[in-house]
Amino acid sequence: MAKTIGILTSGGDSPGLNAAIRGVGKAALSYYGMQVIGFRDGFRGFMENRTMELDSSALSGILTVGGTILGTSRDKPHRMPVGGKLMDMTDVMVENYHKHNLDVLVCLGGGGTAKNAYRVMQKGINVITLPKTIDNDVPFTDSTFGFDTALNVATEAIDRLHSTAHSHHRIVVVEIMGNKVGWLALGAGLAGGADVILIPEIPYDVDLVAEAIRRRSASGKRFSIVAVAEGAISKQEAAARKEAADGIAHAKSKAAKQKTEAALEQIELQHAGNTLRLAAQLEQLTGLESRVTILGYLQRGGTPSAADRLLATRLGTACADLIEQGVYGVMVAAAGDSTATVPLEQVAGKLKYVPPDHHWVGTARRVGTCLGD
Ligand code: F6P
Repeated sequence: MAKTIGILTSGGDSPGLNAAIRGVGKAALSYYGMQVIGFRDGFRGFMENRTMELDSSALSGILTVGGTILGTSRDKPHRMPVGGKLMDMTDVMVENYHKHNLDVLVCLGGGGTAKNAYRVMQKGINVITLPKTIDNDVPFTDSTFGFDTALNVATEAIDRLHSTAHSHHRIVVVEIMGNKVGWLALGAGLAGGADVILIPEIPYDVDLVAEAIRRRSASGKRFSIVAVAEGAISKQEAAARKEAADGIAHAKSKAAKQKTEAALEQIELQHAGNTLRLAAQLEQLTGLESRVTILGYLQRGGTPSAADRLLATRLGTACADLIEQGVYGVMVAAAGDSTATVPLEQVAGKLKYVPPDHHWVGTARRVGTCLGD
């Protein structure tokens, strides 16, 4: 009997999602003769049984379109806001899965999505995930779709900022997405020739950054571009976070644990506005005028790059092949020119950080980029 596939997109949107929906859908419909049902707005739509028919006309003309035709949300199956309360709705999702006689649910998303997919899988349904995110922080895959497009957008922004920084002899601090990991800031900073790159994995010393900028000034280069990941932290902030995390791990009572958890939350809240503070500090320490550009959601929007379309299509069609073979409970990973499967329990809840000895880090140091350490 022909198989029936459910598809949803979850977490932050990203270029290439539609290309992946199309890749899975076209291969499933026309190559394997399967049925495909889309669920709207991530796990929320799956829970509320809001569907969209993914027939050949719905899959047509979406390859180059940004975002996701299915819509997305960050709702988690086990903590879903329902009627003003956070409820575990996984059982309702399992019911919907059976209502549609699904053989598998394909979840397109990043680390959070893999975790949520794994949660519903543990309730006995078949699941496959595809790695999407502009942050490129999903482990066990060469890359994620969305990253290449965002890398191009952020690099072009740095290119453009160069001429204005140069004309006004200013420091331009450009904030690039990446709350926990610095792949995007590091990649775009390298490709765009930023003078300073600050990423969450390498806590920075603002005095060292100022010193690097002063050295540039002394050598006649009167402008500097600082590429900073939104989650980049100073050495002081890193120490305060570590102290709070240690406090939570070693708390002797519930009250002590709650106190240190609240302290950590406070530190994290204070991080908002970090890029603006950093620019002000650099202006004060160097005497050079500074300006801030926050790229924000520009990096997630718009047409996917050729590389992302190709990757998403390759992963999508490989996903349909796996469904045909009855292989479930895996993430479809990019592995060189081919694809590979990774058991979902290995991926769920893990992030791919930039290792301090990564080739890109070494490359940045060799071209004289200051990493703030
Ligand atoms: O998708 C990941 C990401 O782009 C992060 O870099 C960023 O911190 C986050 O999304 C913000 O997304 P939202 O505001 O949609 O939750």
